[in-house]
Amino acid sequence: MSADLVIVANRLPVDRVELSDGTPGWRGSPGGLVTAIEPVMRANDGTWIGWPGGTETDLEPFEFDGMHLVPMTMSQDEVETFYEGFANGTIWPLYHDLVAKPEFHREWWDGYVGVNQRFAEKAASIASEGATVWVHDYQLQLVPQMLRELRPDLRIGFYLHIPFPPAELFQQLPWRRQLLEGLLGADLVGFQLPGGAANFVRLVRQRVGHKTHRDLVYLPDGRTVRAAAFPISIDAAGFQELAQSDAVAERAKAIREALGNPRRIFLGIDRLDYTKGIYARLRAFSELLADGHLDVEDAVFVQVAVPSREQVEQYRILRDEIDRLVGRINGDLGRIGRPAISYLHSSYPREEMAALYRAADIMVVTPYRDGMNLVAKEYVACRFEDDGALVLSEFAGAAEELRQAWLVNPYDINGMKSSMLDAYNADERELTKRMRAMRKTISQHDVAAWADSFMTELSHVDTAHGKPVRP
Ligand code: G6P
Repeated sequence: MSADLVIVANRLPVDRVELSDGTPGWRGSPGGLVTAIEPVMRANDGTWIGWPGGTETDLEPFEFDGMHLVPMTMSQDEVETFYEGFANGTIWPLYHDLVAKPEFHREWWDGYVGVNQRFAEKAASIASEGATVWVHDYQLQLVPQMLRELRPDLRIGFYLHIPFPPAELFQQLPWRRQLLEGLLGADLVGFQLPGGAANFVRLVRQRVGHKTHRDLVYLPDGRTVRAAAFPISIDAAGFQELAQSDAVAERAKAIREALGNPRRIFLGIDRLDYTKGIYARLRAFSELLADGHLDVEDAVFVQVAVPSREQVEQYRILRDEIDRLVGRINGDLGRIGRPAISYLHSSYPREEMAALYRAADIMVVTPYRDGMNLVAKEYVACRFEDDGALVLSEFAGAAEELRQAWLVNPYDINGMKSSMLDAYNADERELTKRMRAMRKTISQHDVAAWADSFMTELSHVDTAHGKPVRP
């Protein structure tokens, strides 16, 4: 196998499922990254390397929907030290503003190094001479350098989907220098926001001592590395089309009916993650009911919490806290047939999400810190009638583009309450004005434009190695 384009991500774009005959098979996962990268993959006959989840050992490369997929195995020890440990117990909370306390364990770091090395070796064995390799996200920050050592001929891009923290936080990492050097193996390092790119360049100057100028890093061996922002997006046209379909319209109507046709539906959809601010948002809503600003006959909050990283302790604690809070709120404030919060701990296909977006009057997205937050963008894309309100945290990357949302500080419960109430009471003209502007932004900056601009930049990076790929 020899590929001109290799995508390296912790996850494969497919999930392991049981087929109807009981044998194991694959199903495409609805994630945004697949939609984003699929066209580039197809244009270049690319190969995707990633972990399918679990600890199966005898996995062979296979074709799925015209894509070449190479599954990486993971031992139970690697799942615990690399995935649950260093990736999600150290880096994830540290890069998200210490919303939870990161733990620093040397065995976790060793697991992280080992798995990154295996991914790098796999990519090195697959990439053709001068190929382009695009490495994704915080689980694989050492891969660029490891890969460059194995294959100096490659053109290497790295994209971080989560925030890159300020120096004051990053500095806590006992392995800070190794991580920076790992990323510097790439020709182009992409971030969600200009602030993340600036944090990175500053750290490289201070901690590694390389010369930098604006978004460029000059390495002693003569190579330059560029660090820049590429805010990720969604398949806006695809979501709009789905939302406009008859099936989704009917389903949205059925959802409203099942909820008792309240005047207004509030909606939250998140992975069940402590960065998302689910607890504070539900409290804010419950206080609006308790204070008498809202009534359960008129308003309901639908909260979808998608199960995530369930073996990690912080996630278990969060789940229990949310379970308790929802129970208490419904017990205190609900009436027969009228729970205050309709809580669903489950994941849903794209169609059902689109129906929820269509059914909801007020979308509430209140992370304490979020790289981008695609749910906010999906909601906007689905509001093709230019109605509906978005309440959005200032600390989500999406807030830099969606300026017409009701922007809130998720740490300020009173502030959230008043914005949620403003959005609830907003008149049609106000809603239309805001939503129209946001829809324009999303349709102009969709995920195809994102992938295109990253690939174009990567092919322009001044490098002695690497042949160009088609963006
Ligand atoms: C975030 C990360 C992704 C990750 C996803 C789901 O969006 O940026 O890299 O794949 O969460 O988390 P999981 O741990 O299930 O892969």
